[in-house]
Amino acid sequence: MKVNIIEHPLITHKLTMMRDKRTNPKDFKSLLKEISLLMAYEVTRNLPLEDIEIETPIMKITAKVIGGRSIGIVPILRAGLGMVDGILELVPSAKIGHIGCYRDPETLEPVEYYCKLPIDVEQRTVILVDPMLATGGSAGMAIDFIKQRGVTDIKFMCLIAAPEGVKALNKKHPDVEIYTAALDECLNEHAYIVPGLGDAGDRLFGTK
Ligand code: PRP
Ligand code: URA
Repeated sequence: MKVNIIEHPLITHKLTMMRDKRTNPKDFKSLLKEISLLMAYEVTRNLPLEDIEIETPIMKITAKVIGGRSIGIVPILRAGLGMVDGILELVPSAKIGHIGCYRDPETLEPVEYYCKLPIDVEQRTVILVDPMLATGGSAGMAIDFIKQRGVTDIKFMCLIAAPEGVKALNKKHPDVEIYTAALDECLNEHAYIVPGLGDAGDRLFGTK
């Protein structure tokens, strides 16, 4: 099983606050944004650098800036939306795409209802974001759409992954690196992550 678990006391603490069922949507939203920012630091660790010439107040130098491909951030609606602003604080020039899909409660299969990606998405490194990787159906389908548009460099970032979802995504898209803040125990009979944090979209938007 190939997965990068981003462990840091700040992330662990904030994730515990998000798991707590007493946390209200306003705080849940703030915590999701903060964790996304902290995780983005690790997810972007291997971005290539290139040389530019600049002049400090003292002298001319050759210094490094981020080069290579531009970044695209693609949230899976709805809950992925809560991760965009945190990443944008670190990578403000990123373009944003959106993929809408929900899990059919009966079949647990993902159902797509929206897909709008940046026009030049194939030239970008895409960071696909969704707080929850449960069966892996939604992320797997979203990656299918992104690859159909010619994207070759995709990273998937979530907060909580189930081993079942990691295995399914590794199998379907072995080239996509998975980054998560936690790898939980398993899925329950409704394919919810155990112990998880419940329904991320409902907790973020207060819809239940
Ligand atoms: C949740 C979550 C993921 C998906 C994960 O969304 O945000 O997109 O479930 O489950 P999977 O790995 O088994 O596909 P949901 O389908 O509840 O839609 P919502 O965000 O609109 O509530
Ligand atoms: N979707 C969620 O929002 N939470 C889960 O635990 C599983 C799927």
